[in-house]
Amino acid sequence: MKLQDKVAVVTGSARGIGRAIAEAFAREGARVVVTDRDGDEADRTAGEIGAAAVAIRADVANPQDVRALFDRAAETLGRIDILVNNAGIGATRLVLDIELEEWERIIRINLTGAMLCSQLAARRMIAQGTGGKIVNIVSLSGQKGGVGRSAYGASKAGLEVLTKIMAVEFAEHGITVNAIAPGPIMTETGKGMHTPETVDAYHRLIPQRRYGEPAEIAAAAVFLASDDASYVTGHTLNVDGGFLAAGLMFPFDPAKDKPIRTSS
Ligand SMILES: NC(=O)c1ccc[n+]([C@@H]2O[C@H](COP(=O)([O-])OP(=O)(O)OC[C@H]3O[C@@H](n4cnc5c(N)ncnc54)[C@H](O)[C@@H]3O)[C@@H](O)[C@H]2O)c1
Repeated sequence: MKLQDKVAVVTGSARGIGRAIAEAFAREGARVVVTDRDGDEADRTAGEIGAAAVAIRADVANPQDVRALFDRAAETLGRIDILVNNAGIGATRLVLDIELEEWERIIRINLTGAMLCSQLAARRMIAQGTGGKIVNIVSLSGQKGGVGRSAYGASKAGLEVLTKIMAVEFAEHGITVNAIAPGPIMTETGKGMHTPETVDAYHRLIPQRRYGEPAEIAAAAVFLASDDASYVTGHTLNVDGGFLAAGLMFPFDPAKDKPIRTSS
């Protein structure tokens, strides 16, 4: 039980990666706030997790919702020890084509929403005086120049550097701030963004030649939210089958693959 008696807020946890994180936290002994803009699905998920979970509807892009979320979470569960900024949306849109309205919606949810939640969670953690853990779900799309990842990639790159900034600013209060960059996972967002061509490209580019599972992201979140990671802060943990590490990949055959030219 790595998170015994901790209270965790996981945004966007009605389904997908967030749900897997909420389930893993509950298994590790935490009490979890399942919060999502889809209140009915959040209720269902919290009900399925059981007594360790409560559902609170909130849209992270709406400051009133976010304030009410942290007030209710602290009232209901007494404190807040862990925040996972997981709520996010994506779109595949070329820079040449993206409309300003869509750009702003994606930045508002993925980046501004995470900042607002972190600000309110950190204020509570500081007032409690017992430190805390913040984990941000970023993306490979914020680390590499992927076609069509315009607003999505920019929002995740912004959240990745905000992770470092918050790690520095909150360190004196005993709050660690880290990020997880998942490789591709076939959730609803994944299905919405990944054409068959995208899936083929990922299989070629990822050394492990497969998509990840939500549970593999949840395992990393448990680590970063637990005291096992007490000296880890400002770090992005890639859980991506080797995607970021990969360079030249081809089936090298020493018998056949000779250099074109050798120096004498
Ligand atoms: N699936 C992937 O391949 C992948 C890869 C890298 C990063 N991510 C990131 O992981 C996170 C989770 O994505 P997922 O793949 O599980 O997607 P998903 O669509 O299955 O789940 C996202 C959840 O967030 C909720 N949500 C969306 N906007 C919200 C808002 N404004 N306020 C509150 N809740 C909101 C949705 O209702 C949904 O329940 C996202 O931040 C996403 O960018 C996903």
